[in-house]
Amino acid sequence: MILTVTLSTSIDKLYMLQKQTPYSVMRVQEVINTAGGKGMNVSRVAAKLGEPVTAMGFIGGFTGQYFESLITQPEIRKAFTRIAAETRSCINIWDASCGMSTEYLEPGALVEESELARFFTDFQRQLPNADVVTISGSMPKGVPADAYEVMIRLCRDAGKPVLLDTSGVSLKSTLRERPTLIKPNTDELTQLIGSVPSSLEGLAEAAYELHRGGIPMVVLSLGAQGAVMACAQGTYWGKPPRIDPKNTVGCGDSMLAGLAVGIARKRSVMEQLRLAIAVSAASALSLATGDFNPDDYHAIYPNVEIAQLN
Ligand SMILES: Nc1ncnc2c1ncn2[C@@H]1O[C@H](COP(=O)(O)OP(=O)(O)OP(=O)(O)O)[C@@H](O)[C@H]1O
Ligand SMILES: [Mg+2]
Repeated sequence: MILTVTLSTSIDKLYMLQKQTPYSVMRVQEVINTAGGKGMNVSRVAAKLGEPVTAMGFIGGFTGQYFESLITQPEIRKAFTRIAAETRSCINIWDASCGMSTEYLEPGALVEESELARFFTDFQRQLPNADVVTISGSMPKGVPADAYEVMIRLCRDAGKPVLLDTSGVSLKSTLRERPTLIKPNTDELTQLIGSVPSSLEGLAEAAYELHRGGIPMVVLSLGAQGAVMACAQGTYWGKPPRIDPKNTVGCGDSMLAGLAVGIARKRSVMEQLRLAIAVSAASALSLATGDFNPDDYHAIYPNVEIAQLN
């Protein structure tokens, strides 16, 4: 079972408009509501790859109940911690005339100290049944900055691999606890080491240095260029075939799901990378975030190139 942690949940509302005109009445052609948060993308993709998932995080109020009702895949077991504050909504307005979107993100609910304590109790209850744990996204207000560090320590004590995908201060400080895997994109790599090397050799070197610093698996995700992975077995470049992407938002979450599934299935590191590249590239071909078409995945899988860099 893959245990996914999404502390910052939201109802994601996608409003499809022919053309957005500010300061006027807009009629929305179509609304798509999703249980949102980066870890929810991971949950949906891992479940679609056929792995049982247990999804954890905070939900609250009637919106929290609605959030749960939007999770319909039978492979996803819901193990959310209930809080007093209402789960927020995030609105993404898609303007078909220019293919651009405008996002409105409500401030997240405040998590009380007693609610956080309840989450940790719930987490420790789920942990023994997990093969892999994923931690994704930002932390809501009220959650102390070291919460991810505490979770990583609990995973380590329980002997469970833990995959961390976050950004900013929480990524940098959390590395002290040495999660099993990190998946920085180029922005996050800049936050970690100050810049993004321009050559493949430089990227391999950067991944290797982070690995040498104590992170068993470092996966630098490079959008259409695929990913560079450094681990005990070596340094590899995984390259997807050229595709015509429809929506690349959440591709990193799909990649994390692929890595979690590869680890849960005890595949070789090269196969873990291939699976992760194939599912994230397939996800770029899907309009919906945190989704992919299995036909695309199966077509891409044999065409992912894996090259050893050292
Ligand atoms: N245009 C593309 N063509 C092929 N594969 C892609 C493309 N964009 C993304 N991918 C795949 O998805 C992976 C992750 O993408 P990216 O580096 O953009 O993640 P990210 O910035 O963390 O995304 P997010 O945080 O929105 O989930 C890439 O390593 C690659 O395998
Ligand atoms: Mg990302």
